[in-house]
Order: sequence, then C-alpha cells, then structure tokens
Amino acid sequence: MDESQVHFDLHWVNQLIRSRRSIFPRQYTGEKIPREDVEIILENAHWAPNHGKTEPWLFKVFTGKGLEEFAQKHADLYRELTPPDKFLENKYQKLQLNPLKSSHVIAICLNAGTNPKIPEMEEVAAVACAVQNMHLTATAMGLAAYWSSGGMTYHARMKDVLGLDENQKCLGFFYLAKYEGPTPEGHRKDSWETKVEWIES
Ligand SMILES: Cc1cc2nc3c(=O)[nH]c(=O)nc-3n(C[C@H](O)[C@H](O)[C@H](O)COP(=O)(O)O)c2cc1C
Repeated sequence: MDESQVHFDLHWVNQLIRSRRSIFPRQYTGEKIPREDVEIILENAHWAPNHGKTEPWLFKVFTGKGLEEFAQKHADLYRELTPPDKFLENKYQKLQLNPLKSSHVIAICLNAGTNPKIPEMEEVAAVACAVQNMHLTATAMGLAAYWSSGGMTYHARMKDVLGLDENQKCLGFFYLAKYEGPTPEGHRKDSWETKVEWIES
C-alpha cells in the first residue's frame, strides 16, 4: 500500500453524508457555539473544489449584536420592498426572530472571478460545495444547520445590507445552532438508482 495515500473509514463517511439533515430554527436552543468550532467549519469550506483556483466563496459571519442588527435589517428590507397586499406579518417576524434562535448565521456569498473561461455556473457550484463541507462538518460536531434562501436573499438591495460589490452575490444564509429534540428523518422521493443512467455499450 502507498503510505502517502490517506484512507478513511468508508462506513463512517457514508454515515456522515447520509445522516446530514437540514435542521430548522424551531429546534434551536439559542446557545452559543465556540468561535473555534465555527472557524473549523469555515476552514473546511475553504477546501471545496473550484475551477481555475478562483476560490469564489465569501462568508459574512453574524453573531451576537451583529446577528441582531442583521436580522432587523433583513426584516425591514422585506417590509420596505413588499407591496402591502403581499406583506405577511408572520414572515416579517420570522425574518426578525429566527436568526436569533441560532448561534451564528453565515451569509453565503459568491465572489465571482474575472476569468472569462470560468462561467458563473461553475463559481456557484464551487460555493455550493463549500456549503456542503460546512454542513457535513456541522453534522460531525452534532450541530444543527441549514441553507436558507428565503426572505430577500436574491434582491439587489441585499448587497447593500451585506456590503457586497459588483462581482459579489448573496446565495443564501447558513444557519448554525445547537439543537434539541430528535434529528429529523431524511426523505428522498425515489431511490438513487432512478437518477442514474448507466451507459455500458
Ligand atoms: C440552495 C438551497 C437553498 C435552500 N433554501 C431553503 C429555504 O429557503 N428554506 C428551507 O426551508 N430550506 C431550504 N433549503 C434546505 C432544503 O429544504 C433541504 O436541503 C431539503 O429539504 C432536503 O433536506 P436535507 O437537507 O435534510 O436532506 C435549501 C437548500 C439548498 C441546497
């Protein structure tokens, strides 16, 4: 065996990937996760694959007072930009209060490069790989996490809230929390075989 090659316990890897779940704010305890643990999660994000060494992810980490201010700004943006007949008080309150049940909310941002050979689709794909790294790390730590693209995520004005420039875009928010209650069961509509076509001759 080549000693320079690292091998991992496949059973453990399968378990980690298959047991990763989106866990939502109703189960969050509001307890703080130590910064060192959040740093490990962010460092693992940085090891995502990316085409052309663009490393097109950018994370804005909100916690404490910063998180309170962000949640209020997001809710206010929803109120300001939603016509009165479409405005839902319940949604406003969720934008205002759900982040505060978390320990950290990490804005998932695309920081697109200028290499014309790398289409934006690939840059977005690389950011999604980084988020998966974060989610798997959170799962290994016994933490709740989910990717939210709700509220005003895709509105141009979200750039102002997050201080993003021309080449940067908000792709959502990664909620991170301690949680109580059972880990939700996973559901998939069909078996994996229905999404796979083998071409063998
Ligand atoms: C790009 C992206 C955006 C998502 N946005 C939301 C969202 O806005 N609200 C939500 O409840 N879940 C959101 N999710 C999480 C999905 O609901 C969740 O992944 C799905 O239900 C499968 O559950 P699992 O993650 O536990 O396997 C998002 C997931 C992805 C990948």
